[in-house]
Amino acid sequence: MKRIGVLVSGGGTNLQAIIDGTLNGTIQGEVALVVSNRKNAFGLERAKKHGIPALYIGKGNYPEQADADAALLEALESHEVDVVVLAGYLNILSPAMIARYRNKIINIHPSLIPAYSGMGYYGMKVHEAVIANHEAYSGATVHFVDEGTDTGEIIVQERVRVSEEDTPETLAKKVLVVEHRLLVESTAKLCSGNL
Ligand code: GRF
Repeated sequence: MKRIGVLVSGGGTNLQAIIDGTLNGTIQGEVALVVSNRKNAFGLERAKKHGIPALYIGKGNYPEQADADAALLEALESHEVDVVVLAGYLNILSPAMIARYRNKIINIHPSLIPAYSGMGYYGMKVHEAVIANHEAYSGATVHFVDEGTDTGEIIVQERVRVSEEDTPETLAKKVLVVEHRLLVESTAKLCSGNL
């Protein structure tokens, strides 16, 4: 049974989808650790509700980025994490982390990469730009994490139709549904060695 580490920064709805996937058998794995760089991320509450170890590692307890990077790697190793899922995690991973978990870290991004990806494109900023540019389509992408930002090999993408009436908020909701499905599907494949 693969042990999954999930990194979050916000509400953790993607984390919840993964937890549910491990409980209903879709994902042959267990969430062994949840880490957030935001002390009050609701994702940490979601983990605690399921009895999953939940750690805050951020500026508040590790002011130096190098110390935070070392603490994250140590936490993943001490919890014997095999694969890592970035589920709305808004922080850059250290080269040591990428090397240790090469091709074992996946990320969900709320656009059709390479569109609306890279530095500055995250969360609502993605949907605001898509609406501002009157795109007919947006979508979600799951990709492997490498040293860049949203640049690793793409695993799966799915388009979402953008309608004239859509706002960034309504688009975010439509994309989030697709994110959950693609991330659960990709995490399942990562755990079963099919990625
Ligand atoms: C999602 O759109 C995710 O892609 C982005 O953060 C949003 C919230 O994700 N990075 P979650 O509800 O915290 O999983």
